[in-house]
Amino acid sequence: MVFKFPSENWQALLNPEREKWQSTEVFLERVKPFPEEVWVDLGCGPGYFTIPLASKCKKVYAVDSEDKMLEICQQRVKQLGLETKVEFIKCSEEEIPLADGVADRVLMANLLHELLYPSKFLSEVKRISKSNAKIIVIDWHPIPSPAGPPIEERIPEDRAVELLESNGFLLTERLNVFPYHYFLVLTKEVPS
Ligand SMILES: C[S@@+](CC[C@H](N)C(=O)[O-])C[C@H]1O[C@@H](n2cnc3c(N)ncnc32)[C@H](O)[C@@H]1O
Repeated sequence: MVFKFPSENWQALLNPEREKWQSTEVFLERVKPFPEEVWVDLGCGPGYFTIPLASKCKKVYAVDSEDKMLEICQQRVKQLGLETKVEFIKCSEEEIPLADGVADRVLMANLLHELLYPSKFLSEVKRISKSNAKIIVIDWHPIPSPAGPPIEERIPEDRAVELLESNGFLLTERLNVFPYHYFLVLTKEVPS
């Protein structure tokens, strides 16, 4: 089994201290969302990244497997008047109910280590992504940190790259911008 973040602890994901070590401003500077882009925020939680993205791009599909997370994310999006920009989607461990090729960009932030069936889930990520899509994977280094899952549950960066590449993605960039997280940018592998 993998470690699952308890949805009743959603407030911890919005702790203002988090901005010190996983700044949404730094995230936006690095991913540079364009106004015409459609993003899919997989494992959106209460919307730590969904909301900053929604204010910059055309649309965000906020996707999570937990009703509580979707409910809180929806409330926050509404409070900020961003409801026309965000659509909420409940997924399962194996299926993402979105059409083929909808995503210009996919974000998986602090999700990879929680996947029960990574290969199945990643094949869904491929399916919903446009051929030139970029996939952003941010996850915890297995080092002591002020928050995060147990160290033994974290996926080291090289193992994450191996997992993603063996499931049909190509690593294009590794960004070293957060002290406790790796930040990978991938594309879909072009079939030869
Ligand atoms: C640690 S939280 C991270 C939330 C958000 N991405 C962030 O960085 O603040 C992980 C989120 O992934 C969700 N999750 C876990 N397994 C999932 C799956 N198979 N599909 C979609 N969401 C999942 C959890 O419900 C939770 O909201």
